[in-house]
Amino acid sequence: MRQPLVAGNWKMNGSLAGVRELLAGIKAGVDEVETAEVAVCPPFVYIPEAQAQLAGTAVAWGGQDLSVHESGAYTGEVAGSMLRDFDCKYVIIGHSERRTYHNESDELVAQKFTAAHKAGLVPIFCIGETLEERESGITEEVVARQVDAVIDHCGVETLGEGVIAYEPVWAIGTGKTATPEQAQEVHAFIRGRVAAKSPQVAEGLRILYGGSMKPGNAAELLAKPDIDGGLIGGASLDAGDFLAICKAANG
Ligand code: 13P
Repeated sequence: MRQPLVAGNWKMNGSLAGVRELLAGIKAGVDEVETAEVAVCPPFVYIPEAQAQLAGTAVAWGGQDLSVHESGAYTGEVAGSMLRDFDCKYVIIGHSERRTYHNESDELVAQKFTAAHKAGLVPIFCIGETLEERESGITEEVVARQVDAVIDHCGVETLGEGVIAYEPVWAIGTGKTATPEQAQEVHAFIRGRVAAKSPQVAEGLRILYGGSMKPGNAAELLAKPDIDGGLIGGASLDAGDFLAICKAANG
């Protein structure tokens, strides 16, 4: 049985005061989350605050990106080992915003997967098609290419130690969610793609959905057999909404 994971991607939002309040709110309500594992990914500078407030609770934390390098003259970058220094469990890699605004290629994302894995972090590996790609009927081709890049680079067993997040780019921050059927179809395709290399890895692999997931649509999405949780953007900035999504996994 795959334990669902609901992770908040806070993106570049918040202030120290706001982060303290949000963390306190999540901490106060997490005991009612029975089934799902819960995680938050704050901006780098707020990770020590997350560690201070969440250590010893059921909530894990992680980064939103990491460098492919271990250390050295790479101004502005953060290494996996630095995230581990603050007890991060997870790190998001290959988010569409990084692919788009920072030109991250499939190859670079695959290198980041390896860097995260080597540092002892669990990568939350994001994939997904743009609206144009969906309308051209190449959704499966796109996600297959993105998944294969990591399998080719690190092998299917290593992929299986991470988590995949399917985030259709057209659903991110738009209020336009994939229907549960649309999402399930792609999730099943992704699992099948992995199963062709290793049925065992595919069976245990958590595939999260991301893209305008809210308290109102979470239960229906999470009820689908191949949707094993969510990667939540906007709704994760409100403790009540985020916890409601986490609880939607209780069934
Ligand atoms: P929204 O939930 O704001 O659509 O963002 C989804 C996302 O990008 C999570 O990584």
